[in-house]
Amino acid sequence: MADSERQIITAADTAELAMTAAARIIARIDANAGLIAICLSGGSSPKQLYRLLATDPYRNRIPWDRVHWFIGDERFVPETSDLSNMGVARRIFLDQCAPASNIHPVSTDAANPDSSAEQYARDLKSFYGADELKLGRPLFDLVLMGAGSDGHTASLFPGDPALDETARWVVGVPKAHLEPFVPRVTLTLPALGSCHEMLFEVAGSGKRAILTRLLDGENLPANRARSADGNTVWLVDRAALPEGFRSS
Ligand code: 6PG
Repeated sequence: MADSERQIITAADTAELAMTAAARIIARIDANAGLIAICLSGGSSPKQLYRLLATDPYRNRIPWDRVHWFIGDERFVPETSDLSNMGVARRIFLDQCAPASNIHPVSTDAANPDSSAEQYARDLKSFYGADELKLGRPLFDLVLMGAGSDGHTASLFPGDPALDETARWVVGVPKAHLEPFVPRVTLTLPALGSCHEMLFEVAGSGKRAILTRLLDGENLPANRARSADGNTVWLVDRAALPEGFRSS
């Protein structure tokens, strides 16, 4: 696909996709000798990757004390819920591998998604060490993303005002447009885009229809999410690939 700002990498199946994603995460970690920030995603797509990261050789390649784990969007539910994005990541790999102080969940104990969003923005700003994002100094080493069947990414849904946010790093989303229909908290496009690499995982035949529209360049949230460093990568398995697609 001719798209100078986005690289498409195809994988035979979800196992290969998870291994490729894990290798890219390790490469980003290896490239930074200081504190590393990885922003995880929700949904079902990253679960296989999370399981892999808890196993050798990946687990012993990660300097756990130097890596900080954030989440790109959260459902406004308790962390013990199966719907909680960070809760899932914790139970699959973080709690057994990472120091608790390096895990940065969105607090859903706040009164509402907006105050939860403000609190998370403060956490992010304190980690970043500044209140404004600077070009050339990304907040994250890598941001993991998924794409929903309506073209949403993180909890940025088509037509939602949160998509056009330019100042705030995190916002509350009172209404999800897809299941699960719970309020959300989401990082905004500028915050997600402040990364050395944005890595989408798209898998399964259920994603073929939306992937066809996205690769056609339709103006959908998942197409608007880009790394400000010019490094946006889509990892796609064969089952999700549109008919006749040829990777460049
Ligand atoms: C969420 C997500 C969301 C997800 C996509 C893909 O909280 O729902 O972060 O953006 O990544 O909807 O989800 P699946 O991997 O389940 O298809």
